[in-house]
Amino acid sequence: MTQADDLLVTHDVTVCYGSHQALNPTSLAFSEGGVTALIGPSGCGKSTFLRCINLMNREIPGCRVGGEILYHGNDVNSRSQDLFQLRKSIGMVFQQPNPFHKSIRENIVFAPRRHGVSDKDELDALVEDSLKAAAIWDEVKDQLDQSAFALSGGQQQRLCIARTLAMRPDVVLMDEPCSALDPISTFAIEQTIRDMAERGICVVIVTHNMEQAARVSDRTAYFLLGDMVETGPTKELFSRPRTSGSTTTSRGGSDDGREQDGGRAPRPVLRRLPCPEGRLARAWRRTRVTALIGPSGCGKSTLLRCLNRMNDRVEGMPPHGLGPARRRGRARGL
Ligand SMILES: Nc1ncnc2c1ncn2[C@@H]1O[C@H](COP(=O)(O)OP(=O)(O)OP(=O)(O)O)[C@@H](O)[C@H]1O
Ligand SMILES: [Mg+2]
Repeated sequence: MTQADDLLVTHDVTVCYGSHQALNPTSLAFSEGGVTALIGPSGCGKSTFLRCINLMNREIPGCRVGGEILYHGNDVNSRSQDLFQLRKSIGMVFQQPNPFHKSIRENIVFAPRRHGVSDKDELDALVEDSLKAAAIWDEVKDQLDQSAFALSGGQQQRLCIARTLAMRPDVVLMDEPCSALDPISTFAIEQTIRDMAERGICVVIVTHNMEQAARVSDRTAYFLLGDMVETGPTKELFSRPRTSGSTTTSRGGSDDGREQDGGRAPRPVLRRLPCPEGRLARAWRRTRVTALIGPSGCGKSTLLRCLNRMNDRVEGMPPHGLGPARRRGRARGL
């Protein structure tokens, strides 16, 4: 149900990709300072709906959007809508971090500069405030002029959130922003989401993590096979769902939305691999599935990239990234 103070309202929004109707008429309303979670199984149209709001679907050939999307009462699809201004006010954070090929500082100031901010002190303050709001300032404050690609995946994602916040948006759309993050970074982002809401920003977040939806959102909308089948206050929807299956994943506890066998998740076997000096490679051969875990920025991806020599392509990495142990491993054909 829409109300007078709703910032963003969708009326019967539909989306077709060619002849395939991916989203059936969907009407939802979003208010200032509210957090809405979009949930539902893979392929049900959550990202499709989210992308309509800041006209990202326009960039997909053959994609047609119907219905009305009102932002401050104006239809975003009208010809008079300035896309540049719209995306300043309605920012988006994607599932995969997509920093610019620039320094950390430049990632933050690039868009504000294009929107006319030129004062150095103002830009410096923007860099600090945005990075603090995205819970990454302490990790990067001494390396602001280094490439954003020198950051870990989780750090890059928080940088992208900072970049979005630097535009001081009214609405932030987030498409599974934590799917590649460790629990500590996830917690930091969830805190950031709540802080954004307190500052009056309207947040719409797609998530497969039911616990996350329950923790951060005020309202939830459940999508199924292209239909928005149920919406309401999150507490109500989770405690008394009208649609069977809408909160299934909260019982299974699975992060990817798949129900687990009778709710009994396999017990993880945690084994600390001896490291370094080649023993790591031997342990790898004996272990069928090895999980590398640890907080954001601790080196998991760096180690993984060593295995097929992806790090050789990273500027500044020594040619034998793992040193003598790696060379011995190679000599043994590992
Ligand atoms: N660019 C595209 N071109 C054609 N069809 C698309 C495109 N993007 C999505 N679709 C189709 O639209 C439907 C909804 O996809 P969408 O990505 O919105 O689902 P989703 O709910 O976000 O799924 P997931 O949870 O896996 O991200 C699917 O059938 C998908 O195949
Ligand atoms: Mg999606």
